[in-house]
Amino acid sequence: MNDLSGNPQVHYQPKLLETEPYLSREYLKLERDRLWRRVWLQAARLEEIPNVGDFVTYEILDDSVIIVRSGTDQVRAFHNVCVHRGRRLIDIPPGARNATGNRNRFICGYHGWNFGLDGAASNIACRQDWQGKLTPENTALGQVRVDCWGGWIWINLDPNCEPLRDYLEPAASVLDHFELQNLRYKWRRWGVFDCNWKVAIEAFIETYHVPATHPEYMKFGVYQGWGRQEGLHSSLGYDAKGENKGRLRLGSGKDARKATAEMVAYTMEHVNSNFSQSLLDAAMRLEDELPETATEEEVLKHWLSSARQADAAQGVVWPTVAPELVARSGVAWNIFPNFRLGHAVNNGLCYQARPYGDDPDKCIFEVSVFELYPEGAAPKTEWVHTPLGDPGWGSVLSQDFSNMAAVQQGMKSTGFAGPRPNPKEEGAVVALHETLATYMGLGRPQTI
Ligand code: FES
Ligand SMILES: [Fe+2]
Repeated sequence: MNDLSGNPQVHYQPKLLETEPYLSREYLKLERDRLWRRVWLQAARLEEIPNVGDFVTYEILDDSVIIVRSGTDQVRAFHNVCVHRGRRLIDIPPGARNATGNRNRFICGYHGWNFGLDGAASNIACRQDWQGKLTPENTALGQVRVDCWGGWIWINLDPNCEPLRDYLEPAASVLDHFELQNLRYKWRRWGVFDCNWKVAIEAFIETYHVPATHPEYMKFGVYQGWGRQEGLHSSLGYDAKGENKGRLRLGSGKDARKATAEMVAYTMEHVNSNFSQSLLDAAMRLEDELPETATEEEVLKHWLSSARQADAAQGVVWPTVAPELVARSGVAWNIFPNFRLGHAVNNGLCYQARPYGDDPDKCIFEVSVFELYPEGAAPKTEWVHTPLGDPGWGSVLSQDFSNMAAVQQGMKSTGFAGPRPNPKEEGAVVALHETLATYMGLGRPQTI
């Protein structure tokens, strides 16, 4: 693992980005081949396919992939296309994010070719008509590279791609300590938004927008932070020094107990994420359990250990992560290109954005929220389609969403020279475009 020193703050040189990656149809066409068909993509959670034969599909532009539990401890991925004449093997229900189900074999609806969970074809009607030219190799479903990390299933459409673990570093080695594989969905929502996928994901990989977009948070604390490149990926966090403070914003003000309780209660009510029920309950107890004179540091320590104990009592054991690793890890990572992973010891908040059709002005955007649950107590969830403006998103995310279409439209103005991200707080935005330029072979950010 690289540098574990404290609270990283990398100051990039000021850069100017191009608007083409956000706006151009030609760029999006190239993106399909140079980016989406070459990167590891987070496609599902392992717990979504617990039983042999359970499958989910993942849709990315022209490609659809079937991810199936083919054995108790085995997951396979196949191109969702029948090798006979190209019919999509599994239909995606109209308006759905993806298909799900359970099969012991996949049967094509057109001429009835069968494929086992290992992808091998059988029951090919009139097989002899091919005069012996159909072989196991040329009739099997096309394999897609698949691997697991952090409880997520990742796919890569490039048969010659590097191993997932190598791709994910240094994120994997830092985030392994958070035991993300034990998290379970609390809720998950998705929608189609009127902006490029980069506009959507970039709204969640910087701290610079907090004062103007979420003004009500300013009474809880200072939200200035940093973002920096981490291999292909990037990380971001808050400036505050001290154990845990780099990633958990503690309410500010004279009485840290009250401010913390208010901040946690507000966030849970309006976002329903970032904390857990145990952290909320523990925050509500702070006033009873600590004197008014308690310092911020004392309040933070007590709050976390009291929630940790309450969870342990019901069999939910948080991983113990060394303070320097907590500081090193920041609050979130953007796993290149499109998976923003907000990690914590007992919860998680993740975003993913990807193109929608061949329209650079649209994207599929999704939010998944996780918690650690006692054995068997995780709620049953599914992807809930939630249009913009639906109260189901809550008020805080809606504030973030309110900028997206306006940015997409604004960038089209002849009077706009290109985004100029804050070199420190929006360092992860710059990092995204640096890696993007490497994959795309164009659009390198220019030093101002
Ligand atoms: S296209 Fe699938 S069996 Fe013919
Ligand atoms: Fe925000």
